[in-house]
Amino acid sequence: MNKKLNILVIGSGGREHAIVKKCQESPLSDKIIAAPGNGGIEQEVPCYPIAVEDTNAIIHIAKEESIDLVIIGPEIPLSLGLVDALESEGILAYGPNKAGAQLESSKSFCKDFFKRHSIPTANYETFTEVEPAIQYINENKVPIVVKASGLAAGKGVIIAQTKGEAIEAIEAILIQKSFGDSGNEIVIEEYLEGEEVSIHAIVSNGTFLCLPPSQDHKRIGEGDTGLNTGGMGAYAPTSNVSQALQSEIEKTIITTTIKGLLKDGINYSGTLYAGLMLTKSGPKILEYNVRFGDPETQVLLPLLQDDFVSLLYCSAKNDTLPTSINLSNHSCMTVVVASKGYPGSYPKGDIIQLPKDIPGNATIIHAGTKLNQSKEIISNGGRVLNVTCNSEKIEDAANAIYSVCDSIKFQNKVYRRDIAYREINRKIAQ
Ligand code: AMP
Ligand code: GLY
Repeated sequence: MNKKLNILVIGSGGREHAIVKKCQESPLSDKIIAAPGNGGIEQEVPCYPIAVEDTNAIIHIAKEESIDLVIIGPEIPLSLGLVDALESEGILAYGPNKAGAQLESSKSFCKDFFKRHSIPTANYETFTEVEPAIQYINENKVPIVVKASGLAAGKGVIIAQTKGEAIEAIEAILIQKSFGDSGNEIVIEEYLEGEEVSIHAIVSNGTFLCLPPSQDHKRIGEGDTGLNTGGMGAYAPTSNVSQALQSEIEKTIITTTIKGLLKDGINYSGTLYAGLMLTKSGPKILEYNVRFGDPETQVLLPLLQDDFVSLLYCSAKNDTLPTSINLSNHSCMTVVVASKGYPGSYPKGDIIQLPKDIPGNATIIHAGTKLNQSKEIISNGGRVLNVTCNSEKIEDAANAIYSVCDSIKFQNKVYRRDIAYREINRKIAQ
């Protein structure tokens, strides 16, 4: 492919900043723009203040800027059918269409899909009424998991330790509408015990390529305590997914999913991100996301040695992917620097001072930041920055990252100091 591509990246998080950086490395990239972007993205490429839900404005800017490839970061525009809308205007986009995005936008659709295609998952039932849901709780053991079916930014999952807590959760979601219309339907499922890992696959026309297995840290507190967040840090690869286990996951879960989707009339393309629990009876799928994880993307892209833009363009055209992927044998890790109070309410507008000198293999990726009128960087979200480092040994990456985290200055700075602790403990035990 000789033609250079004009690229539009949709989104405003750390994931999108990492995507912009990776696209900048590609010889295939010509112009890169973003919408809406953040303070870090704006320092690198032109940003347009367009909401990710504003399909018409996105189509307009894509046409005006002669965009050849739109890369969609977050799930909301995918679930609204942005890919379908762009394609009907003749604009290529990376990501699944609206039908494919249901795997993430409806947990009940996703669970029924697993059942229909015999994909290993937690036992479950779906409900729209309170009484039968309570009866199900009374017939099953605790802990038990109650989930709002629709999109809830990772917050619509309650792990109930007692039947009372489960019933409270059912009433909160179905009656008090604590997650709005996302909770018109609920999924109640068996609690699975084990370690969680994520597998990201780039999918196109029935073919797929997996990025290294990764592990996120979803809870706000050290030692995996406290409230669920969008993710406080991640690393890849995780050594608890051996080659044999990776092959088993690819066979029983990823391949079965892509074939199942085709059987159901959905030719899936884009990212398929499987959230898995490694249980005593084998890997089971908790959920699918239909886009790259945040902050997993920040650790996966530095390990990809093939041309990122070429792979995404291939998927956007629905072509067959190459037969293998080249990955670095390094470890990559990222720590999320957040605003105190997140995932609850938190202040915005802190002036951020970034260190001038950071170790050569570390990078600061922006998430919830923006530039004020004097072009200073200020905080503008719960997850503010990601400090990322790629190194032969994960311990070295961790040391470099924490030295940078310590020297970033803003008033409400908080971060977890134990990211990758499982992997580091495994390495020490070796
Ligand atoms: P989900 O949005 O479905 O991935 O759920 C968010 C988080 O809740 C997951 O990352 C798990 O940590 C936890 N979780 C969800 N479902 C289960 C389950 N069936 N058993 C144990 N933990 C779960
Ligand atoms: N890091 C979790 C997610 O992107 O959903």
